Parts: sequence; structure tokens; C-alpha cells
Amino acid sequence: MLVNIGKENSVAKHFLNELRNKETQNNRQLFRINLYRLGQIMAYELSKRLTYIDTQIQTPLANHPSHHLKESPVLITILRAGLPYFEGLLDFFPESDAGFIGAYRVESKEIEIKLDYLATNNLDDKTVCLIDPMLATGKSIIRSIELLKKNGTPKHWHIVSLLAAPEGITYIENHLKKDYTLWTFAVEQKLNQHAYIIPGLGDAGDLSFGEKI
Ligand code: URA
Repeated sequence: MLVNIGKENSVAKHFLNELRNKETQNNRQLFRINLYRLGQIMAYELSKRLTYIDTQIQTPLANHPSHHLKESPVLITILRAGLPYFEGLLDFFPESDAGFIGAYRVESKEIEIKLDYLATNNLDDKTVCLIDPMLATGKSIIRSIELLKKNGTPKHWHIVSLLAAPEGITYIENHLKKDYTLWTFAVEQKLNQHAYIIPGLGDAGDLSFGEKI
């Protein structure tokens, strides 16, 4: 299932516009801060789909019936572009276990994904958020999920993007039949010949941390 938060207008659009706009996106600190803010907003939206249990709060004046999160989701990000976005989510789920995957593209005839680092807790029966801001071909997500399954079988995958290309959405739909929710702030037009998202924002990793060689 796809959840597109950007369908509804909100202040998130301001942050997203600053990420996209070539006049503002080169302020590296602002770029990371906006990713972080959008990570927080995403966490809030996603939290509406999690499970809560009844609790009682004692205020100074009365007993108050309320709810608290039954279980924090495990937050896993793909290095390196995902880091500022992941930080925003982690702030809203401070009890979460966190995991990291090193994945990078190799351009040969087709885009190939190489994975070379994995560090997570046991994922059996967990709700897992796999955080990667730019959902382009969808291959890094699917390769990462295949690798993550070695560390356990989650009960649900939340694939947490910022921008999603239609090609990536279709790839994920074709490879994950059930037990997943795909989140985004925008469904984009298409991919270009280098598998960059159009209109997109450019290279999220380079804009956050500098151009890599
Ligand atoms: N990764 C990026 O940083 N940008 C894209 O457009 C696609 C993948």
C-alpha cells in the first residue's frame, strides 16, 4: 500500500520546496535540517498506523486514561543519503533500535546495487522502517530487504521515502506482495537515463555531505 502524505497541503511543502529549489538547496546545513524536519513529520504520520495500548496518567489534578505506543519500530537506514532523514524519525521514536546498511550504485549497462555493510538487531516479528529518501529504481530497497531477512522476519515493513518515482513504486509492488506500506511526500514524474528522479532534487547524499568521488 502507498501512502502519499504530500497529497494534502501542509508546511511540509515549504521544507520540500527548499530541498528541491536550486537557489536554496546548496546551503548544506539547511538541506540536512529540512531532511531532518521532514523525517520528524514522516514519523508523526507513520505513528498514526502503529499499535497503542491503554494507559493511565496521573496529572497533578486527576487520573487521565490515555494510550502509549505498544512497541517502537526498528529504524534502519541506507547510508549515506538517508542519515539526516533517519535522524528526524529517530527523534520521534527515541526508544527505537536502529540499523544501518551500506548500499551503493554501480553503473554498468544497468544500474546494479552493491551492498557491503549491515548492522541490525534481530528483526523477528518487529515492525521495521526502512528509510531511504530517494526511491528511484527501487532496487536498493529490494536488495536491502533480501539482505535484512537474514536477520529475521519482520511482521511489517514500512518503506520510508521522501520522493518516489513511479518506476520504483512499481518495482516494489512487483517484489513485495504483502506486509508492507510505502510512504512518500511526493510521487514524481519519472526517472532520467541515469536513474535520477525527475523533477526530484538532485543527489541527496552529495547535497547533504558533499560530492563523492
Ligand atoms: N538518489 C538521489 O540522491 N537522487 C535521485 O534522483 C535518485 C537517487
